[in-house]
Amino acid sequence: MGQDNEPKTYRDSETPVYTASNGCPVMDPQAAQRVGPNGPLLLQDFHLIDLLAHFDRERIPERVVHAKGAGAYGEFEVTDNISDITTIDMLKGVGKKTKMLTRFSTVGGEKGSPDSARDPRGFAIKFYTEEGNWDWVFNNTPVFFLRDPAKFPIFIHTQKRNPQTNLKDATMFWDYLSTHHEAVHQVMHLFSDRGTPYSYRHMNGYSGHTYKWTKPDGTFNYVQIHCKTDQGTKTFNNDEATKLSAENSDWHTQDLFEAIQRGDNPSWTCYVQVLSPEQAEKFRWNVFDLTKVWPHSEVPLRRFGRFTLNKNPENYFAEIEQAAFSPSHMVPGAEPSADPVLQSRLFSYPDTHRHRLGGNYEQIPVNCPLKAFNPTHRDGPMNVNGNYGANPNYPSTFRPIAYKPVKASQEHEKWTGAVLAEQYPVTSEDYVQANGLWQVLGRTPGQQESFVSNISGHLCGAHERVRKATYEMFRRVNADLGARIQSATEANVSGAPPARL
Ligand code: HEM
Repeated sequence: MGQDNEPKTYRDSETPVYTASNGCPVMDPQAAQRVGPNGPLLLQDFHLIDLLAHFDRERIPERVVHAKGAGAYGEFEVTDNISDITTIDMLKGVGKKTKMLTRFSTVGGEKGSPDSARDPRGFAIKFYTEEGNWDWVFNNTPVFFLRDPAKFPIFIHTQKRNPQTNLKDATMFWDYLSTHHEAVHQVMHLFSDRGTPYSYRHMNGYSGHTYKWTKPDGTFNYVQIHCKTDQGTKTFNNDEATKLSAENSDWHTQDLFEAIQRGDNPSWTCYVQVLSPEQAEKFRWNVFDLTKVWPHSEVPLRRFGRFTLNKNPENYFAEIEQAAFSPSHMVPGAEPSADPVLQSRLFSYPDTHRHRLGGNYEQIPVNCPLKAFNPTHRDGPMNVNGNYGANPNYPSTFRPIAYKPVKASQEHEKWTGAVLAEQYPVTSEDYVQANGLWQVLGRTPGQQESFVSNISGHLCGAHERVRKATYEMFRRVNADLGARIQSATEANVSGAPPARL
């Protein structure tokens, strides 16, 4: 932390008596009971055994992805009337406010890895709404590396450590990407300077997936959500990010905490893109394909809210490490679309929470909804909320319970077809938006050069065959781009200056 971040001081009246975990006062927590000045220890020393045994169990599994992160609390406020497209309770009425929690993260690195690594960033929010917790589990990029969810664990393995050397491995990294071209649009984001944001405060968040906003009459729209930073986007270049990895590997964590501590509360403005089912059916891009964006020129952004982060956690482990976000934590009026990656995520997050935090993870205070009543969930490890007392554990005819009606959509999304088990094919369409991004980078002086340099600095560590396959992939995006990457990368390999192109 910064120099002037004083440790908290407590009043004399706040002096508790130290006890063992059963509440028994202990005279000296640093002394073990022993026989004589140099004698062995006693099994009766509950305090010592309790202390050691608890310490032995301090670690819980880190998140399998997004292990390194930081978070804070805040408040969401509706800024614009969007009652024509949604009846979601949290979005009803300009000025309506909802408490929330965020957690930002890097993806591939372990819990101690540098914040400034080149990586997408996680952008997770939990809204504590009157109708349940609504989680937005977003990234800072509008697209993703894949559209076949079975590829996710495989892809993630290639971004992590080599199973033999335990090192990050450029050959594995590019071997996957150069043979899965649907990823190239996301790779364009990752290796531009957007892959190294200046801080969590200076990046946007995107749903990436298409969701459905349904209405009580069963009609719905497809939507994508965008959270735009009010601080302005700001990035590091590769050299700055690399330098910071060594000098202050917790920079993003520190920046967020200190900004909120000094009252410089960061905020984001929220927008929605909306397509009716009829529009989606005629749209050029498959709205269930996570590797594509909806161009803003065709589907404009509509503002609806703003959130501000205004409170740091009191305890990182309790409130941020134990936070459990899931795209399946939805509220009436919000539903998943048929995007296969989203559908898989609906399973994966609560599943990993049960593994990481336990079957009663929703009872951990930071995950508790404002109100919940599901007495068919009983018992289990670490059940601490009273376990619904004497309430019947089945829908008893002696215990009236109200049920909220939800009308399923009658039109659209009537799925039929043969069972298929083949990957979505890569077509020429998969390079179009990637090339569009290459052109956008060209509008800011130096950005295309940075992109080529960022790729070549990483790709030069890969096996020759993998490098060649990667040049071919970028040639399909844009012939000039492929040639420039090849020249710069081979120059890095050989130590010769890149050919002029
Ligand atoms: C974290 C799975 C794709 C955003 C995680 C975690 C898992 C996971 C297991 C760890 C959660 C925890 O331990 O609490 C998957 C699978 C995916 C997928 C199976 C695809 C099939 C995505 C996509 C996005 C995303 C497309 C963004 C659009 C996040 C975020 C976190 C996360 C933000 C961190 C949540 C937090 O801060 O606790 N993912 N993920 N993931 N994922 Fe995914």
